[in-house]
Amino acid sequence: FDTKTPKSVTNDPTSFASDSVRMRWPIILTGAVDDVYKTISATEDAEKQAEGKKIIEQLGALKYEMLHDRQMTPLVEDGFPEETAAYNKELEQLGNPTWFQVPWLFSECYMYRRINTLFTTTQHWKSYDLFARQKIDSFRTSRNAVAELAARYEDIVTKIRADKNITHDSEAEKILFMEMCEVCLWGNATDLSLLTTMTYEDIQRLQGSEARKAAEKNILVNKLPQAYDLLNKARAEGKKERRVDFVLDNSGFELYVDLVLAGYLLNTGLATHIVLRPKSIPWFVSDVMPADFAALLSALANPKKFFEAPTEEETVAEKTPTPLSEKEAQSLSFVFQDWATQHGEGQLAIRPNRYWTAGGSFWRLPHEAPELYEDLKQAELVIFKGDLNYRKLTGDACWDPTTPFTEALGSMGAGSGVNVMSLRTCKADVVVDLPAGKDEELRALEGGGGDSGARKWAWSGKWAVVSLSEGK
Ligand code: F6P
Ligand code: MG
Repeated sequence: FDTKTPKSVTNDPTSFASDSVRMRWPIILTGAVDDVYKTISATEDAEKQAEGKKIIEQLGALKYEMLHDRQMTPLVEDGFPEETAAYNKELEQLGNPTWFQVPWLFSECYMYRRINTLFTTTQHWKSYDLFARQKIDSFRTSRNAVAELAARYEDIVTKIRADKNITHDSEAEKILFMEMCEVCLWGNATDLSLLTTMTYEDIQRLQGSEARKAAEKNILVNKLPQAYDLLNKARAEGKKERRVDFVLDNSGFELYVDLVLAGYLLNTGLATHIVLRPKSIPWFVSDVMPADFAALLSALANPKKFFEAPTEEETVAEKTPTPLSEKEAQSLSFVFQDWATQHGEGQLAIRPNRYWTAGGSFWRLPHEAPELYEDLKQAELVIFKGDLNYRKLTGDACWDPTTPFTEALGSMGAGSGVNVMSLRTCKADVVVDLPAGKDEELRALEGGGGDSGARKWAWSGKWAVVSLSEGK
């Protein structure tokens, strides 16, 4: 079911895959050890401590295997036999590869799935999320952008409510739709698996509205007008249930901006229902799990308490965070009320599926997850957030960058019955849907890769693509 186009592999020195396995993943594993260590230190339970120490040893062993290019070992069965068997079958089909000689997409998924087995096979750490600390802390750090957006959201939604049935200016609505989608897009620039090369300050700089305006020219493909037309048409046709799905990416700030867009769609009636699709295990550091959604809502339920607690960095530096102003706290409460009501009334639902943490590309989705596929077909639009989802959609393959998006999606493209939109800031090699000559132009920029053979411009999250495939 996979594409015949060659995949990105860790043995390609010009690929970001090569950097990832040698530098980024070992750092992520070191962070994982630190996190477990902190939790061990905070517990009195001797059995939990003993299990925690074993997890630390195993994380260390995994890092060693990786850095020394050892063979990737089969996953142990941890309660999901079909899942582990699928990973192990793929290892076998790849000829039991070593870390530096393996398709990038599969090996990165394998790493997170393997880490998960270390926890699920214990008594006391079964549902432990080793990235939870980082996720919640980074949300706290984004408070300025969070507050700014809350004010904007309150303003827009109040106007929509006041305007109901008076005028319906679809040009104005379209412009706001595009703004909300761009907010949602750039929220993806800040995932934590890239934090190994970015500071919290870099992230804050990326989040404000000024930064967003400046970044508009960095959207290389922009199919937002077409996406608007699609939703507007379904509404005009009087279709009763019009669902928009979000295949989520990162929690914290990105999930917050996803909800900003979701809330906008519900308030305008561009959608009647939203389905959020999270991951079921800790994944690519910052990806949303159901508990992260709950944590975000509870932070917003009591914004002063949450945002005025110091982050870990502030604790170390003995700094006190600035209190929220009354206005900021009030806008945040407005946002909370709106989302909590939508959630309570079933317009905003969260629907997990373990398929999202399988090791393959979405070319396999219709075949491997037929029920999920049928469900996705029911939506007017399925928004795939972020870089990893884009890699999974396109098979993480070395496409010619002018390949049409629909073609690069294989069985999820033309004729699939699914309208796929990707909101992706580029953080990997694969890219399609570009106008002829664009890739060359970007490579020629400073830091763009030049004639090194590496598509470096596409690694940092500075550039973005918004592609649409109308599969219906
Ligand atoms: O490029 C770094 C990286 O960790 C990729 O390996 C991965 O595809 C991506 O970032 C995760 O980003 P996102 O959270 O946008 O899916
Ligand atoms: Mg992610």
